[in-house]
Amino acid sequence: MSNSVEITDKRTGKSTEMPIISGLLGDPGIDIGKLNKELGLFTYDPGFVSTCSTKSAITFIDGDAGVLLYRGYPIEQLAQHSSFIEVAYLLINGDLPSPAQFREFEHHVTNHTMIHESLKLFMNGFHYNAHPMAMMVGIAGSLAAFYHDSLDPENPEHRMITAIRLIAKIPTLAAACYKHSVGQPYVYPKNDLDYCSRFLDMMFSVPAEPYHVNPIAAKALDLLFILHADHEQNASTSTVRLVGSTGANPIACIAAGIAALWGPAHGGANEAVLKMLNEIGDKSQVARAVARAKDKNDNFRLMGFGHRVYKNFDPRAKIIREMCYKVLNELGIHDPLLEVAMALEDVALKDDYFIERKLYPNVDFYSGIIYKALKIPVEMFTVMFALARTAGWIAHWLEQNGSGDVKIGRPRQIYVGAPSRDYVALADRSGP
Ligand code: CMC
Repeated sequence: MSNSVEITDKRTGKSTEMPIISGLLGDPGIDIGKLNKELGLFTYDPGFVSTCSTKSAITFIDGDAGVLLYRGYPIEQLAQHSSFIEVAYLLINGDLPSPAQFREFEHHVTNHTMIHESLKLFMNGFHYNAHPMAMMVGIAGSLAAFYHDSLDPENPEHRMITAIRLIAKIPTLAAACYKHSVGQPYVYPKNDLDYCSRFLDMMFSVPAEPYHVNPIAAKALDLLFILHADHEQNASTSTVRLVGSTGANPIACIAAGIAALWGPAHGGANEAVLKMLNEIGDKSQVARAVARAKDKNDNFRLMGFGHRVYKNFDPRAKIIREMCYKVLNELGIHDPLLEVAMALEDVALKDDYFIERKLYPNVDFYSGIIYKALKIPVEMFTVMFALARTAGWIAHWLEQNGSGDVKIGRPRQIYVGAPSRDYVALADRSGP
């Protein structure tokens, strides 16, 4: 069997052979690198529906079967047995750590949790009601102003120390954004706590009284972070890689990733889901919401539904759904929004519109209900996603920059503007 495709331009009769590139799993791709040179044609694929931007060995998704693997390990097994810190190690290094490697990695992350005191001055520049994602974009980017000693993308030691710094400091920044928004003092990281307990402590403790992290909350958070840690070439990861392809420093790349994540079509969906469930408010209004989502004259969409890659259940949504009952039960919380969400899922999954388009609940559908149960405010939901996804972003940036073959990302376009025309002096122009 030939592993190439022949492409013929029927206008000119010219043909060319393009090699087929196969990975280990998943659909192969056509290497169209020489297409323009040989046939004078570009490919046109807005939204990159059929376009692979890179080879990667980090995460695999089979969207039809609902499979997600990090470095070959099924997400279900990692969710059941692993921890976020171990998953971060796995994503970055390619294999699960030995006990000694795990201890060393955790030690390094724990020892980089502090942020420079001057960053507080940046933070204080934000209005109290700034959206925390706006603060995160700015503050994460400003970290690059502090670590000149380790920002050379060509230096492997710099790359690794920056990876550790980001995984360690992003939670400190995230909690500081929240504290700023509620007018409470920033809380320093307590390094005798584990990663998620430390984050909860920075979020919710105050100097005036003791605070004890609820282990159920810390465990739930750890699981959510595992599920959000990576998802191959999604919009924010592709942004990190695109910015990384220019040779920009890794911290700037992560700040760009945070900006890309913010949109409601991507990581901002978890915040949008909770707002939508609140607006629906009651099971009796579910049918109306589904009807609106199907109405092409209404721009309302069921947030937390649908995915570019999954045309089956998002495996993360399955885990989160189960976890949602468990966490609410363990915390003794009855949230009527869970009932609204379940009713919505039930109606949508039986509706022809959703069946035909293969629209299933995605990772964001139930995660907000859990965050709410953990008392994380809704504006912080996407920040939580960013915190977890930092592990994936940095793993991709390391893979890209460690490859020794970084090519600047530079797409082309189909130009549909004015034809070439001559400049007319201002005094000679007519018009309103
Ligand atoms: N509600 C109603 N209709 C939908 C929805 C939805 N949530 N999602 C897709 N559709 C329809 C869409 O109108 C289109 O219909 P038609 O073929 O009649 O024009 C069809 O399904 C295909 O949709 P699309 O917009 O072409 O699909 P896409 O792959 O470009 O978009 C998506 C994927 C996730 C942006 C989209 O499903 C969506 O907007 N979902 C809601 C937002 C959301 O939950 N985002 C989180 C995604 S998962 C986490 C993450 O990526 O961060």
